[in-house]
Amino acid sequence: MLESLEKLAADPILGLTAAYNQDNNPDKIDLGAGVYKDADGNTPIFAAVKQAERLWHDEENTKAYIAQVGFEDFNSRIINHIFGRTHPAVEDKRLCSIMAPGGSGALRIGAEMLNRCRPGTTLWVSDPTWGNHIPLLGSTGLNIRSYPYYDADSHGLRFDAMMNTLKQATKNDIVLFHGCCHNPTGVDLSREQWDSVAELAKKQGFLPFIDTAYHGLGTGLDEDVYGLRLLAESVDEMVIVYSCSKNFGLYRERIGAVIVMGASTEITEAGTSHITNIARQMYSLPPAHGGALVKTILQNPELYTSWKQELDEMRERINGLRSLFADTLAEKNAPSDFSFIKNQYGMFSFLGISKEQIQRLRDEYSIYLVGSSRINIAGISPKNIDYLTDAVISVL
Ligand SMILES: Cc1ncc(COP(=O)(O)O)c(C=O)c1O
Repeated sequence: MLESLEKLAADPILGLTAAYNQDNNPDKIDLGAGVYKDADGNTPIFAAVKQAERLWHDEENTKAYIAQVGFEDFNSRIINHIFGRTHPAVEDKRLCSIMAPGGSGALRIGAEMLNRCRPGTTLWVSDPTWGNHIPLLGSTGLNIRSYPYYDADSHGLRFDAMMNTLKQATKNDIVLFHGCCHNPTGVDLSREQWDSVAELAKKQGFLPFIDTAYHGLGTGLDEDVYGLRLLAESVDEMVIVYSCSKNFGLYRERIGAVIVMGASTEITEAGTSHITNIARQMYSLPPAHGGALVKTILQNPELYTSWKQELDEMRERINGLRSLFADTLAEKNAPSDFSFIKNQYGMFSFLGISKEQIQRLRDEYSIYLVGSSRINIAGISPKNIDYLTDAVISVL
């Protein structure tokens, strides 16, 4: 039977990491996969995570399955962590969280639930969006359409075009937003723009589906969920997906959450029951380890303070690298202006260079970036900045 299958090409981003790992050039730079790196190119384990592992090692007394929704304490704390304790949706008990295998698993089971509500209904995604959104969400049967988002000329947001298109979205539609740190563009909505989106969502009645994979890596823990909290006050129903891969550094542990907000506690519970039913059909029960670590950190004020401090440092480092990159290119009289990179947030930006230039960076300088010219800012460091900027200038 299997001989009927043709071998597929490697996933473009994962394939890039493999090619980078095989490259023997000591000056090689990986600006591909979306993984945070420190100045030495390592992806560190948060000190709070290490400590939580020690505590959990002593506390865990069984390897029996955990509940279908995961750890209750993870779920209640992640809701407070995202929304704050006094958000109306929290006070009205209209939010319910389910632990999932990473943000990707959460996206999939959330989208499967939405497709059960109205099979084949339209899901609007930004143009462009994270490379795995369309494969991951489209394979549920939802009908994917895109709304304008990135303006390649100004390196900013096509806000008017986005709003005009979203006026077509009706109460039967779902609109996917990136909570913060838009992947791949780094272009986020301002507070005023979120205010307009919330008004539009209320007027049109579409269901916001918010993907939050970089909470705390944009401008701050409260600031990064401004739009999400506002939307949850403006509409009756919403689905939020949360990843702990980047902001807790728990990538391989595969921990995320899908949070349902219904118009009433009963509707939220019904939505949640469908998500656990879908998870049961797909992979049965969630993994425990990552959720145990996140709940341990969120429970323990000392660990929380340590975690937050490290997250703040990561964010400041990324923002500092944005300036370093743009300013160094300007000082070296690069033929193009890269100052837009300083106005963006999170781990990514589009360099805006051609496929041929991307290929030359790889072939001539062992600098790896994805074909869209998305760069992972965290792959830049004071050690490689000269080599990197000289190479970029040489291919421009
Ligand atoms: C926008 C976005 N959503 C979701 C994810 C999925 O994250 P996870 O690794 O937790 O599955 C990513 C990861 O890159 C992402 O960038």
